[in-house]
Amino acid sequence: MKQARLAIFISGSGSNAEAIFQHFQTHPSIKVELLLSNNADAFGLERAKKFSIQTKVFIREQFRESEEVLQWLKEAEITHIVLAGFLWLIPSYLIKAFRHRIINIHPALLPKFGGKGMYGMKVHEAVRSSEDSQTGITIHEVDEKYDEGRTLFQAVCDIDQSDTPKEIAEKVQRLEHLHYPRVIEDWITQ
Ligand code: GAR
Repeated sequence: MKQARLAIFISGSGSNAEAIFQHFQTHPSIKVELLLSNNADAFGLERAKKFSIQTKVFIREQFRESEEVLQWLKEAEITHIVLAGFLWLIPSYLIKAFRHRIINIHPALLPKFGGKGMYGMKVHEAVRSSEDSQTGITIHEVDEKYDEGRTLFQAVCDIDQSDTPKEIAEKVQRLEHLHYPRVIEDWITQ
């Protein structure tokens, strides 16, 4: 297999990005090349530096009103894009350039608790307010709409009656770190 070169997009903590760095550190054909963020204060940028992964920060105009980000991806010869807690909609020029080669993780069982504005703790608060006794993760391909691309993988966890949104978030993050790197690997290699 030709070498795959990943770019990871984040907006915040980057704990999933770190699980992915670790997983592919010694992989023979998949390499994490670049970490990009719309947030200069994202902790994930520090995590990337520890793994000697190149980082780039961009503002909305660079992302939406020019194709500068696409230029960076081309220069780094990126083959696949991984979204890991990235909160902006992906513009159509990027979707077109990477059709079926962008993957996202969502911290609930889509199609429930998805769509615009549903990210991070907001998702877990909505799950808590519902009658649901289970939640989980969804890993899916990305198209022009929020949270609507082809589902590749879901995993489920139970919600106890006493769980707070924070405790639900912790359960879901454990599932994310466990599964996301391996699902990315299967998606690329199959
Ligand atoms: C993760 O739980 C991810 O599923 C979620 O943001 C968190 C990022 O955590 N993504 C979304 O809500 C996207 N709609 P991390 O920065 O520690 O990886």
